[in-house]
Amino acid sequence: MLEVKELVKSYGTGKNQHQVLRGVDLTIHKGEFAAVMGPSGSGKTTLLDCISRYKPFESGEVLLNGKDLGKLNEKEMAKVRNEKIGFVFQDFMLLDGLTVFDNVCVPQVIKGENYRSMEKRASKLLKMFDIEKIKKKYPAEISGGQKQRTAVARALINDPLMILADEPTGNLDSRSSEAVIEAFITAKKQLQATILMVTHDSLSASYCDRVILMRDGVVCDELVRTGDRRTFFNELMDVLRKLNGGE
Ligand SMILES: Nc1ncnc2c1ncn2[C@@H]1O[C@H](COP(=O)(O)OP(=O)(O)OP(=O)(O)O)[C@@H](O)[C@H]1O
Ligand SMILES: [Mg+2]
Repeated sequence: MLEVKELVKSYGTGKNQHQVLRGVDLTIHKGEFAAVMGPSGSGKTTLLDCISRYKPFESGEVLLNGKDLGKLNEKEMAKVRNEKIGFVFQDFMLLDGLTVFDNVCVPQVIKGENYRSMEKRASKLLKMFDIEKIKKKYPAEISGGQKQRTAVARALINDPLMILADEPTGNLDSRSSEAVIEAFITAKKQLQATILMVTHDSLSASYCDRVILMRDGVVCDELVRTGDRRTFFNELMDVLRKLNGGE
């Protein structure tokens, strides 16, 4: 589904140039719920920004369903971002002047879909993520967890090939975080969604199928969940302790 090969990205120029991604390789499979973890500054956000080409990269490849995103022009890339990738951000990024329902529909409006199609898709997602009752409310009138579930619904409305989420639970308390992770699990199970989520939260990550670990701009390890979530959580904690301890 998503293949990232030897991705290299630097910030700055000349003497001040600093390589932030130093040859990142990873593959995310269809229907997989994967997490990326790693110390602050290890390049996680930069990786997502390069995958979606919000930021340019120097070398390497990003293949989405076999399509080389590096070869697309800006207009083609804008279409891919709207129709093939769903985004979920830490700070929700909802439009304050639109209701929950209208926010969820935005990608459909950009795509040029008719109202009927929008309403049908939006209703299904609002129900799925238990935000139907608040569909006429504005972002300022709902909780953080409700905002993020609205963002997840918006991310899914165009049936994207995958979802990229950067610390989607970073601004939420533990209960709301759980509801957002549950929304991802529902999306995976019912819509066969493919999700790549950057997170600092080991508990959230323990619900994933696989956790990819980054350090200093490269993938340094990965953990595949084989048993129950609790065991996976404990394994994850062990690995992270070592990673953060600098061993
Ligand atoms: N626009 C920028 N210009 C220059 N350097 C940047 C820029 N954005 C990020 N960096 C640097 O790139 C490195 C990686 O940043 P990035 O935001 O990808 O890390 P991260 O793993 O997402 O960290 P966090 O867990 O804190 O979100 C850091 O050293 C950061 O200071
Ligand atoms: Mg980040």
